[in-house]
Amino acid sequence: MLTMKRGVNASKRQSDSAISKAPNALQTLRAIARAGELPAERGGLPPRIAQYLQTATLPSPCLIVDVELVEHNYLDLIRALPEASVFYAVKANPACEIIARLASLGSNFDTASMGEIDLCLTQGVEPHRLSFGNTIKKQRDIATAFSRGVRLYAFDSEAELEKLAESAPGAKVFCRILVDCEGAEWPLSRKFGCEAAMAASLLVRANELGLDAYGISFHVGSQQTDLRQFDKAITQANALFADVAARGVQLRMINVGGGFPSRYNRDVPTIEAYANTIRASLAQHFPGQQPELIVEPGRYIVGDAGVIQSEVVLVSHKGGGDVRRWVYLDVGKFHGLAETMDEAIKYRITTVHDGGPTTPVILAGPTCDSADILYEKTDYRLPTALKAGDKVLILSTGAYTTTYSSIAFNGMPPLASVCI
Ligand SMILES: Cc1ncc(COP(=O)(O)O)c(C=O)c1O
Repeated sequence: MLTMKRGVNASKRQSDSAISKAPNALQTLRAIARAGELPAERGGLPPRIAQYLQTATLPSPCLIVDVELVEHNYLDLIRALPEASVFYAVKANPACEIIARLASLGSNFDTASMGEIDLCLTQGVEPHRLSFGNTIKKQRDIATAFSRGVRLYAFDSEAELEKLAESAPGAKVFCRILVDCEGAEWPLSRKFGCEAAMAASLLVRANELGLDAYGISFHVGSQQTDLRQFDKAITQANALFADVAARGVQLRMINVGGGFPSRYNRDVPTIEAYANTIRASLAQHFPGQQPELIVEPGRYIVGDAGVIQSEVVLVSHKGGGDVRRWVYLDVGKFHGLAETMDEAIKYRITTVHDGGPTTPVILAGPTCDSADILYEKTDYRLPTALKAGDKVLILSTGAYTTTYSSIAFNGMPPLASVCI
């Protein structure tokens, strides 16, 4: 069954996808067996999407997400790191079909707003499976989340902690620490987290305020392929645990956030390599009682499961001496490809002319904003035969696209999406 969104066939399955019960072990085993049958060239064109595109009539641009592949990625992760509780980062792709599928497999959910909390609740996810993971929350949203039954909250400042003590009394709280995000293609540094020494004092304070000082979190940056960054952060976490314990408070949990990759224009470590690094680091730094482990994957779960089908609007030159063609697509920075900012995320692109001669291009979106250039510094080459009207597939676009898409910039509709 499939559902389209945003101007296609909106909300068709939103009501009938509710989860009524947690998965049992047999369901999970069956799902693992099914996932094993799926072809899994990470970052390629998923076969089910390729087949679907042969007959589908879609608006352009449109994101197509293979929910079987979402399931496959989730199961790969829990196979590699069974000791972790997975909290899917809803912000990566909040399509109801994705939430429902992951919920049926037993996932928990990391949410950033009341909108995401209510979305998960509507899909039948019990509030105890939600974390309000944004460190920047309105007091009234904390109160509403608490009234809905959410009991797990992030913070990284004293002011936020006081809000939590007042509006979420007794809740489990974890403090996000600053890490430098070195090596990440989409860093999340500076804005989030506080220094470890401050985190230690805040956790002790949380305990005094009657909150349950549960543990700490960090995020080593999204699309983080330098595995050493996890060990660096866990080393910091260990010192912090000791500091807080010396002040009489026993922390119990480490949340290593996300950072697990999609496969864009270059190879990335396997999920097993991430799992082994985290496991080894925890074993080294916490040789006795290991803390509970939380992971909050977003990109890894949905990125490679999605493909944007787009169309060439114009191919042009700016002058006789122009060696690079300008290729304008009907999708750009304002239709979900925001992570091309500073050319950070480099998507793979396929066209109907692949295999023929190629020439270098500057790739741009369709809007009247000169910031809407996708790749100018990066060496992108596309088939010389490419012309207006040709379809273009942008691979591994399942994460952080639909949610970044503007509503009607330049009068163009937001990125449509369909789950198959
Ligand atoms: C708090 C938090 N957790 C998890 C994630 C997911 O990260 P990733 O997509 O790298 O897995 C994000 C991404 O912004 C985040 O802000």
